[in-house]
Amino acid sequence: MEAAAEAGAMLREACARPKNIAYKGEVDLVTESDRRSEELIVRRLRSRFPDHAIVAEEGGGTEAASARYCWHVDPLDGTTNFAHSYPCFAVSIGLAEAGEPVAGVVLNPISGELFSAARGEGARLNGREIRVSNIEKLATSLVATGFPTRQRASSANIHYYWQFTLQSHGVRRDGSAALDLCSVACGRFEGFWEFGLNSWDTAAGMLIVREAGGMVTDLLGQPYSPGGEHVLATNGRVHGEMQAVAGDIMKRAATASLKF
Ligand code: IPD
Ligand code: CA
Ligand code: CA
Repeated sequence: MEAAAEAGAMLREACARPKNIAYKGEVDLVTESDRRSEELIVRRLRSRFPDHAIVAEEGGGTEAASARYCWHVDPLDGTTNFAHSYPCFAVSIGLAEAGEPVAGVVLNPISGELFSAARGEGARLNGREIRVSNIEKLATSLVATGFPTRQRASSANIHYYWQFTLQSHGVRRDGSAALDLCSVACGRFEGFWEFGLNSWDTAAGMLIVREAGGMVTDLLGQPYSPGGEHVLATNGRVHGEMQAVAGDIMKRAATASLKF
């Protein structure tokens, strides 16, 4: 929480100033602030937990294949939003023990919302316990997804977006997977799915969803680990329905030889 607060304060201040944008891919943006945020977080983690491994998006982490504990750090989740001063981005820090998330924080530095969870201890928003929603049907759900910044043309997600739009109250595309997961955890969204996310995008958020009483698997209902091929996070009640819709599209996409 201290590391997220320090990085978040820096991002909030930097968001108000002109940004220096570079490209990691066609629309895969990176700014000076992604790197500065990562430096702040990694420095703190290293000094407090010298034996732990750190996987950080901008490459500033420390490899330690044998380490039991590994931190997954997204120093700025929602870089495209940040670059356009759209106030929907986050710092996401998750800790995994032997591959299983055990602690996580996600901070939106603009709204000041700090989501946190520890395994077996529930999930919180600014210190108050949160729970997933009670909505039972996809037809009355608000759901969310995101689109990859790499290999955009070959992504089949637009087909999922289309079907879920027709079968729900709507699909939001907010541009921060970590915040999307937290929105499921606190009952704003009933479900969220995405393809090709990395461990730093989901390690914290998936624990926050589970600790808030939600369910996280892949789109086929199989166990999901941070960095898995696709993820489905829901309030639990609409999980089966969302899985069935996805399974159907997946079969059709395979026939049409579309990739994720
Ligand atoms: C991105 C965001 C976005 C998701 C992309 C991610 P970044 O992370 O989480 O919502 O759709 O797949 O790459 O690049 O802003 O850290
Ligand atoms: Ca991210
Ligand atoms: Ca990022």
